[in-house]
Amino acid sequence: MFVTHLECSRCHASYEAERLHQICTACGAPLLVRYDLPAIRRSFDKSRLLQRPSGLWRYQELLPLREPENAVSLGEVTTPLLHLPRLGAELGFSRLHLKDEGLNPGGTFKSRGAAVGVSKARELGVRKFAMPTNGNAGAAWSLYAARAGIEALVVMPADAPVIPRGECDIAGARLYLVDGLISDAGKIVAGAVKNQGYMDASTLKEPYRIEGKKTMGLEIAEQLGWTVPDVILYPTGGGVGLIGIHKALLELRELGWIGEKLPRLVAVQAEGCAPIVKAWREGKATSEFWQNASTVAFGITVPKALGDFMVLEAIAETGGCAVAVSDADILFCQAQLARFEGLFVCPEGAATLAAAKTLLAQGWIHPEENVVLLNTGTGLKYPETVQSNPPLLLPGADIPPIGD
Ligand SMILES: Cc1ncc(COP(=O)(O)O)c(C=O)c1O
Ligand SMILES: [Zn+2]
Repeated sequence: MFVTHLECSRCHASYEAERLHQICTACGAPLLVRYDLPAIRRSFDKSRLLQRPSGLWRYQELLPLREPENAVSLGEVTTPLLHLPRLGAELGFSRLHLKDEGLNPGGTFKSRGAAVGVSKARELGVRKFAMPTNGNAGAAWSLYAARAGIEALVVMPADAPVIPRGECDIAGARLYLVDGLISDAGKIVAGAVKNQGYMDASTLKEPYRIEGKKTMGLEIAEQLGWTVPDVILYPTGGGVGLIGIHKALLELRELGWIGEKLPRLVAVQAEGCAPIVKAWREGKATSEFWQNASTVAFGITVPKALGDFMVLEAIAETGGCAVAVSDADILFCQAQLARFEGLFVCPEGAATLAAAKTLLAQGWIHPEENVVLLNTGTGLKYPETVQSNPPLLLPGADIPPIGD
């Protein structure tokens, strides 16, 4: 294991690695796992990865487990990075790609954070954890918790999509709904953490979820032959995925596995909940609580993210930006991805296509640039986003000719 310590993302205070920590006790900011990258550079040749199975555990040198055997796994795979030639030609992109996280266990990228977060929690002796969720994270953590034999307490908005709710339930989590937003769920979870001894698995309140999500960045670089694209667009709620991809790229650069240039990272939000976009436009370092948040892309309905300053730093440091898109555009792009490329993506993933179109039209993205859309989950988890009303035939009926 190459972990050296945990470091506060804001005040840089240092914490011992093999003990359970939540946020920085000095300033309240998230903690980040730090590795002895020079030692990895000296002792590990990345060509050794070629012999390893697909999936996030292949990057064990850059993950926090003391013993690889402690991994709690549901058979994670390296998700495909697909070229979208038909849609690209239609829209004017020559190198449009989509990383399809819908193929993860449970159908979303949340399984990456859960795989590493739950594995490390168990390795540290945690018996129970609590978390607020918009659905998918709770589902993934509940399923990995069941696999690990530890208890999950999950609180989610009553309006959250029903499938993730069912996943929590069937996996045996202690599940509660709140008549409110994820921020309200977070306050209830904080009470359970304080009074009932649960580990706090809220977004960025434990350091290991981000390590799992980091593996999206590792995979993109490996899939592109240890190069990076020009632009990565990410649907941003709490922002952990974007922060994780940024962390991965910085580590790879320090390892010398990729060159100096980093992709421009784009935080995509919905117009109905765009605190990070607002902060970005106003040149602020942190965001303000977004009132009356609402969007069809439920996973990115996060009115105030603990790691907002890290998202804003990541986009500033890479020359990226933040873009808000409408629900109508999201649903249109969801259908376009299905029609042109056979991809049934979640609304959050579709939002990245809407943002890419906006940025192409503004000249911020050039047609020949290598663009990666991050589709964070499968559309199968959101049946309510598809209105399907085909004509009903009586038995024995003929198909009417087209045009009738
Ligand atoms: C499908 C989907 N996409 C994106 C997000 C946002 O994730 P992050 O916290 O990394 O911004 C979520 C969070 O719930 C989600 O479920
Ligand atoms: Zn601190």
